[in-house]
Amino acid sequence: MSNIVILTGAGISAESGLGTFRDEGGLWAQHRIEDVATPEGFARNPQLVHDFYNARRAQAAEAEPNAGHVALAELEAKHTGHVLIVTQNVDSLHEKAGSKNVIHMHGALSGALCHACDHRWAAPPSMSPNDPCPRCAAASTRPDIVWFGEIPYAMEQISVALSEADVFVSIGTSGEVYPAANFVADADQYGAHTVELNLEPSAGASRFAETRFGPASQIVPEWVTDELSR
Ligand code: APR
Repeated sequence: MSNIVILTGAGISAESGLGTFRDEGGLWAQHRIEDVATPEGFARNPQLVHDFYNARRAQAAEAEPNAGHVALAELEAKHTGHVLIVTQNVDSLHEKAGSKNVIHMHGALSGALCHACDHRWAAPPSMSPNDPCPRCAAASTRPDIVWFGEIPYAMEQISVALSEADVFVSIGTSGEVYPAANFVADADQYGAHTVELNLEPSAGASRFAETRFGPASQIVPEWVTDELSR
C-alpha cells in the first residue's frame, strides 16, 4: 500500500484554458510580478492587484477540469494507499474534479483574507480595496494568495507527507519556484520513486527517476492507469 504525493503547477490547468506563468505569452509576460504578486505591489496599488485576481477568479470560475484533474481524482478514489495533492495553483479544478485531499500551498482564488485581523472567508466573485472585513470591518481585504516574499501554506504538513511518500509525482510545473521546486529532492532523500509528468523537461527534470513528456490531459491518465494496475 503506497503513499503518493503529487505536486501540481499551472501546466495541469493549461488545457482547461487557464494561463501558465512562464510559457510564451504567459501571465508574467503580461503583468509585472512586482506589481501584482508581492505585498509591496499590493500596498502601492491595491486596486490593480484586485483587478488582476478578479479577472483570474472569473476565468477560473468558468473553467472545467480536464482529463488530467479527473485522473488524479480517480487515483485518490481507487488507490489503496494515501493520495495527497499539493498544488501551487490557485484555481479549484482539482476539487471540481472530485479530489478531496488537496493542499493549496500558494492559497486560492476562492479565499479572501483580512490583513488587519487575519480573518479568512469565501471570496466574493469580485473584490475591491474598500471591502470591509466581515469580522473587524477594516477596509483591508486581499485575495488569500501567497505572494512572492511570503511563506507558503502548510509547509510542515507537506514536509511530513514527503517524508512518508513512496511515490512523488510533479505535474505541470517549471520547477522555477522554491520551496516547491525542492520537493523532489526531499522525497528522493526519503527513498520515494520520483516522477515528472510535464509538457517538456522542467528545470529540475534531471532530478527525477522517471519522466514522461506530453500534455497533462494525455500523460496523467496514462500514468494513473499504470499506477492503479501495479
Ligand atoms: N500539460 C503539461 N504541462 C504543461 C502544459 C500541458 N498542457 N502546458 C504547459 N505545461 C508546463 C510547462 O512546460 C511548464 O513547465 O507547465 C509548466 C508551467 O510552468 P509555470 O508557468 O512556471 O507555472 P508553475 O510552475 O506552476 O509556477 C509556479 O510560480 O509565479 C509563481 O505562484 C506562481 O504557483 C506559481 C509558481
